[in-house]
Amino acid sequence: MNHMTKIYGHRGSKGNYPENTLLSFQAAIDQGVDGLELDIHLTSDGEIVVIHDETLNRTTDGSGNVKDLTLDEIKQYSAGNKFSHFTHYSENWDEERVPTLEEVLELLDGTDIELNIELKTYVYPYEGIEEKLLTLVKEKGNNRKIVYSSFHLPSLLRLKQLERSAHIAWLLHSPISNPADYMKELELESLHLAKDLVLHDMFQQYKDLNKSVRVWTVNDENELKEMLDLEVESIITDYPEKAINLRVKN
Ligand code: G3P
Ligand code: CA
Repeated sequence: MNHMTKIYGHRGSKGNYPENTLLSFQAAIDQGVDGLELDIHLTSDGEIVVIHDETLNRTTDGSGNVKDLTLDEIKQYSAGNKFSHFTHYSENWDEERVPTLEEVLELLDGTDIELNIELKTYVYPYEGIEEKLLTLVKEKGNNRKIVYSSFHLPSLLRLKQLERSAHIAWLLHSPISNPADYMKELELESLHLAKDLVLHDMFQQYKDLNKSVRVWTVNDENELKEMLDLEVESIITDYPEKAINLRVKN
């Protein structure tokens, strides 16, 4: 039996609710997650917003780059009505908006849920986002455990430079040959590995580092069981309820 692996809701409860919305985060909280994963970008007026893509096009009924729009402009659009094909779809979802990170931190108040903030800075670097992020977390984070992750190493290094105690995690979708050297040199606390890297035999090499390994995005029942058996630190999944139920049975 394994009660150690933590379950993180990917973009909230993305499998059943509009991703990266307060609705999706609340659903994941209600399902009993240990942590939430979300993605951030910066608006033209300097607000940190929670959305996966650089543009509004896929997940909202608006369009354009986040970086070219103000928060007020972004808030005009629905972040829910593109998901009307979902089983639980309700017209109320049309009222969902792209949340600010501050709104998500407020939603988490009174819980001990961990938060994995992924900085989507590899297309647009969003100058100053790391400073803004650390300031916001200091003001509104309520000392919760925050894990900062990115595919973009310069963002992680900037965070570490600004805040030595920041818990940083490098996102990898392909293997690196010398993980120990990277972990040490870059002072990484964790690796966030695509699931294929874990199912790959390099996993032991990562595990031997005695650093936390979180795995994304694991949705299939057999793969979830396999990750629980491997005792990864955390699983990031679109279906947190399914993962939590399997963890109980495992
Ligand atoms: O953080 C893990 C995972 O979310 C990274 O990929 O594209 O879903 O943000 P993506
Ligand atoms: Ca992400």
